[in-house]
Amino acid sequence: MFSHAPVMINESIDSLVLNKSGAYLDCTFGLGGHSKEILKRLNSEGTLNSIDQDQMVIKYAKKIRDPRFKFEYSKFSRIGELFINKKFDGILFDLGVSSLQLDDPSRGFSFQKNGKLDMRMDQNDKVSALEWVNKAKEKELADIFYYLGEEKKSRLFAKRVIEKRRTKLIESTEELAEVTYVGKKFRNSKKHPATNIFRAIRIFINNELEEIKKALQASIDLLQDKGRLVVISFHSMEDRIVKNFLKGKLENQENTNSIKIIGKIIKPSREEINLNARSRSAILRIGEKISG
Ligand SMILES: C[S@@+](CC[C@H](N)C(=O)[O-])C[C@H]1O[C@@H](n2cnc3c(N)ncnc32)[C@H](O)[C@@H]1O
Repeated sequence: MFSHAPVMINESIDSLVLNKSGAYLDCTFGLGGHSKEILKRLNSEGTLNSIDQDQMVIKYAKKIRDPRFKFEYSKFSRIGELFINKKFDGILFDLGVSSLQLDDPSRGFSFQKNGKLDMRMDQNDKVSALEWVNKAKEKELADIFYYLGEEKKSRLFAKRVIEKRRTKLIESTEELAEVTYVGKKFRNSKKHPATNIFRAIRIFINNELEEIKKALQASIDLLQDKGRLVVISFHSMEDRIVKNFLKGKLENQENTNSIKIIGKIIKPSREEINLNARSRSAILRIGEKISG
């Protein structure tokens, strides 16, 4: 039912799989596009572990009947505990949401497809967007819109959320998007006015930035010497964390001399962007574990 074009598939897997008999970890299985490509590149001795925090992907993982492949439903911040005695030749992160999540109105991620507000990638998480949007104080809403969404009208939109929910709970993605329909120009602007606050709420509900920081730190101990870390980010906040991490400059980073940057950042080709508009903001960064 859902299709998903894996982003920068060749660029990412070319930089990841350097050893056909190696062990690999895909931290963001999604619909399995990258995982399947990794398996294609491995010989019979190679192995792939994949994880994802979305229960809906379990059925897609089960379809891969390959003795070299194992799937686990988990958050990637737990990779250190999950793979305690294991070393990988390469670890992949293809961050953000999948088409499975974005295109399904019942997951409540999108202002383009009306559905009950939710936005949890992991259905077992306690707080959904619906609960948070209807309970948070005005200042908290404004801060999240501003800091995680870089939304200039953060205070105005927070105020409008409070006003709207005085008469009725904000239950659907459309009702939430309506708080951003202000002034004459909003309908003509290229970017939907709700883009930033939806992204902010999604990042907040899924604790995305902390998840990435924890998982990147844990990945160092899981990599073999010269093992590769390949990360695809989709917005500046994610990418900044990845860039700082590879430079050893992430706040409270341990093992700052354990990874080096390989090559320059890679962006999708014109052709890929034309075929898959969602790839347009993607940025690929590659790191390599320093031996010793
Ligand atoms: C962009 S999609 C990956 C698409 C995949 N590479 C493919 O080719 O189909 C990102 C996936 O990462 C998962 N994800 C995001 N944050 C996660 C986290 N903290 N722990 C585990 N999975 C996460 C999402 O549930 C989603 O399925």
